[in-house]
Amino acid sequence: MKTIIEPFRIKSVEPIRFTTREQRRDLLKNVDYNLFGLKSEDVIIDLLTDSGTSAMSAAQWGAVMNGDESYAGSPSFIRFEAAVRDLMDFKHIIPTHQGRAAEAILFSLIGGKGKTIPSNTHFDTTRGNIEGTGAEAVDLVIAEGKDPQNLFPFKGNMDLEKLEAFLTEHGDAVPCVMMTITNNAGGGQPVSLANIRETAKIAQAHKVPFIIDACRFAENAWFIKQREEGQGERSIKDIVRDCFAEADGMTMSAKKDAFANIGGWLALNDDALAQKARTRLIQTEGFPTYGGLAGRDLDAIAQGLKEIISEDYLRYRVRTNEYIIERLDRLGVAVVKPAGGHAVFVDARSWLSHIEPLQYPGQALAVALYEIGGIRSCEIGTVMFGRSPDGRESPAAMDLVRMAIPRRVYTQSHADYIVEVFEELAAVKDELMGYEIIEEPPMMRHFTAKFAPLSG
Ligand code: F0G
Repeated sequence: MKTIIEPFRIKSVEPIRFTTREQRRDLLKNVDYNLFGLKSEDVIIDLLTDSGTSAMSAAQWGAVMNGDESYAGSPSFIRFEAAVRDLMDFKHIIPTHQGRAAEAILFSLIGGKGKTIPSNTHFDTTRGNIEGTGAEAVDLVIAEGKDPQNLFPFKGNMDLEKLEAFLTEHGDAVPCVMMTITNNAGGGQPVSLANIRETAKIAQAHKVPFIIDACRFAENAWFIKQREEGQGERSIKDIVRDCFAEADGMTMSAKKDAFANIGGWLALNDDALAQKARTRLIQTEGFPTYGGLAGRDLDAIAQGLKEIISEDYLRYRVRTNEYIIERLDRLGVAVVKPAGGHAVFVDARSWLSHIEPLQYPGQALAVALYEIGGIRSCEIGTVMFGRSPDGRESPAAMDLVRMAIPRRVYTQSHADYIVEVFEELAAVKDELMGYEIIEEPPMMRHFTAKFAPLSG
């Protein structure tokens, strides 16, 4: 069959509340054109994030009822630990309430002034947690990864030559090498198994631990199976296990590829470091057999990990993005190619080239998508990255708009609707105006900045 259908039936639904374009114009004005200010019930299709927004399965809800809320030694933890270890065979598995909590614990132990940590591309919370300790976060993704139109199959790969040179130069100042799979900030682009292995080898040769930020590990494994030579006949589970076999640890947000609404973990092989991490965990998250989560959350994650490696699911998951991207491409919309795992990225700087980067073309596009179709997306560009800590403002490397697709939540007719909204937008896009920021906080301004549309 040609159509790759949603590999599930729907048992429980949430109504979508429809708004009119006039209502949305007023709502935008009320929130000063910042989409983070909207109430979710005023959004028709919410593509702000794929994090924590998954639909849980009947089996996960069933597992929730089996959750055991004992403070110590809960069987929910035993099931969680076994499910993680089945895919990622680390010695110590330490639950946290979400991914950034795992990062905060790790970098509080190995970060600090004078340290520098390379990655293909650090996600912004990872960067924040590293820089928060006084250490430096450095991105070493391959050049293809910064070119929205380049069709290279593994645009998330680490630049191995740069990594080698970096480790040779900074040696002792590097407490670990990180790798984000898939590369979220770079468009949800995958990393090949060969690149993971080479990165591990280089890190090992320099005696530096290798840690994977694994949020979207199953999507990454699917791309390896589809695109990497010699991997096509292997099971997703085998590929996943291989990805983690050479790492010394991982951080994870279970809000992505574990189908959970909350949760995460830190995994390590180093006994001494794990002991320090558990001590820190008790101070900040909770006892090591629940780590800031309820027992029922641990059970939902354990079940989610069994479901996420389903090929039927992953085929449908990635196909959804490809489907939208193919249609947007035909409309002439500048989309980031090839399709990433969790989101569709639009290159707003290129598509709305009449809007200067400092008049925020990504924000203009995101606001227009909401006004025309009630779609909430997220600017990942000059609004998010344009203000440096010293107060200066300059254009970010790219002005992208991310439409992150929640897992198992929307259907193909929702995808068709998204494309139709773009069709309408394409007809008027040259009339869209830029924005100015009229108020912003000193840090992370994209969450709360107030905007005003520029006229004429
Ligand atoms: N690493 C990556 C690659 C992520 O995408 C995220 C979260 C985190 C770490 C942190 O995990 O949210 O559980 O604390 N990304 C979300 C997003 C917020 O919308 O991309 P968390």
